[in-house]
Amino acid sequence: MIAAYQASCQARVDAALEALFSAPSTELERLYAAMRYSVMNGGKRVRPLLAYAACEALGAPAEQANGAACAVELIHAYSLVHDDLPAMDDDDLRRGQPTTHKAFDEACAILAGDGLQSLAFSALLDPRLSPQADGIRLSMVQALAKAAGPAGMVGGQAIDLGSVGQKLDQQALAFMHRHKTGALIEASVRLGALASARAEQAELDALQCYAQAVGLAFQVQDDILDVESDTATLGKRQGADIARDKPTYPALLGLPAAKAYAIELRDQALVALQGFGEQAEPLRALARYIVERRH
Ligand code: IPE
Ligand code: IPE
Ligand code: MG
Ligand code: MG
Ligand code: MG
Repeated sequence: MIAAYQASCQARVDAALEALFSAPSTELERLYAAMRYSVMNGGKRVRPLLAYAACEALGAPAEQANGAACAVELIHAYSLVHDDLPAMDDDDLRRGQPTTHKAFDEACAILAGDGLQSLAFSALLDPRLSPQADGIRLSMVQALAKAAGPAGMVGGQAIDLGSVGQKLDQQALAFMHRHKTGALIEASVRLGALASARAEQAELDALQCYAQAVGLAFQVQDDILDVESDTATLGKRQGADIARDKPTYPALLGLPAAKAYAIELRDQALVALQGFGEQAEPLRALARYIVERRH
């Protein structure tokens, strides 16, 4: 079920994303090419999938979440371009291809990331992608700005880089993961729910519990795959965390306990959806997929 759902959501978001990368003048072609290269390169699109699935869980058509889906994927892509830079994780492989700073150059990659961040907010406010009333669109912008910024993803990345070689306890590790990865995953669910234009507070609260669990589970699984997958399957270098002495769940708890924790978080996510019916099946399938995925 998840494979077919994933394929249809990927096609929908990819069509909307593709339209954002035509350069407005020849002088800007290289920058737009670098942005396009960083986005249209086979990402799993987990965050757009969560946005669409949250919108559908509230009984609205997925298309209403096109702006939300594009915006969260653009922020994610920008975060990866910068995450891979020499000053950060210094990686040369992403989604099976050279990282943006390898395929272009460092300055171009920094600017492509900056550009993708701005494009995310324009896409979210484009009435063709976000047909909601202004009040809802404002709430979506606020939620995305908070999740992407210093109190969210950027803050988490700062903690990550400041923690290399250090031993974090489980509370500190959870704090870092909830920021660097959880915040944008939570925003994906929230933006999708808001895009439905029919979200009640109790539903938003339940979806927030779901998203918190899934957001942490996502990074725990990412850490697990760094240990036990392989470079060809991952499309990024296996063992990069170990090589750089990054604090991770497998490093802290050991692999079996890290896996058990991912399953526990998946179950917490499923419990949070108990009040939802059939329409939340894609969200449930995504919670399972996030801890079962092999890349
Ligand atoms: C990788 O994210 C970086 C993390 C935040 C853990 P994904 O595993 O979603 O990467 P893509 O988008 O599929 O390449
Ligand atoms: C990335 O975490 C988190 C963000 C980009 C915000 P990682 O550094 O673990 O991601 P990968 O493993 O390089 O994809
Ligand atoms: Mg990193
Ligand atoms: Mg990295
Ligand atoms: Mg990782």
